[in-house]
Amino acid sequence: MQRQENQLISTSNVTLKFGERILFKDVNLKFSPGNCYGLIGANGSGKSTFLKILSNEIDNHEGDVIITPGERMAVLKQDHFEFDEHTVMHTVIMGIRSSMISWLKKMQFI
Ligand SMILES: Nc1ncnc2c1ncn2[C@@H]1O[C@H](COP(=O)(O)OP(=O)(O)OP(=O)(O)O)[C@@H](O)[C@H]1O
Ligand SMILES: [Mg+2]
Repeated sequence: MQRQENQLISTSNVTLKFGERILFKDVNLKFSPGNCYGLIGANGSGKSTFLKILSNEIDNHEGDVIITPGERMAVLKQDHFEFDEHTVMHTVIMGIRSSMISWLKKMQFI
């Protein structure tokens, strides 16, 4: 995998079909450090499915998702009620925690 400077994640010609239905086709994106991105679209347009592809939860797509080596991804699932008891800050930290544990193990800190 080639290191891409100044980007965290990129996609190359990501395409997903459910049978005859094309949900999206040839999506080419770059997510750069220091930016905050939002994904908007009508209900059922494929936002959650695209995020599942980015986070490797599903892999039945064509094309590539490239995570720059050395970068870590943290994911919180779309669940309107699961985090009601927690502050936003605590919720974000919970998303980071699992990838942080993997990183600490990889670096042999734990
Ligand atoms: N495994 C699957 N097989 C067939 N169709 C699917 C599958 N998974 C998702 N879909 C369809 O793909 C479309 C996109 O769903 P998705 O949940 O990604 O939309 P969304 O933009 O996140 O919607 P919402 O705004 O309601 O959260 C929907 O029509 C859904 O029914
Ligand atoms: Mg959704």
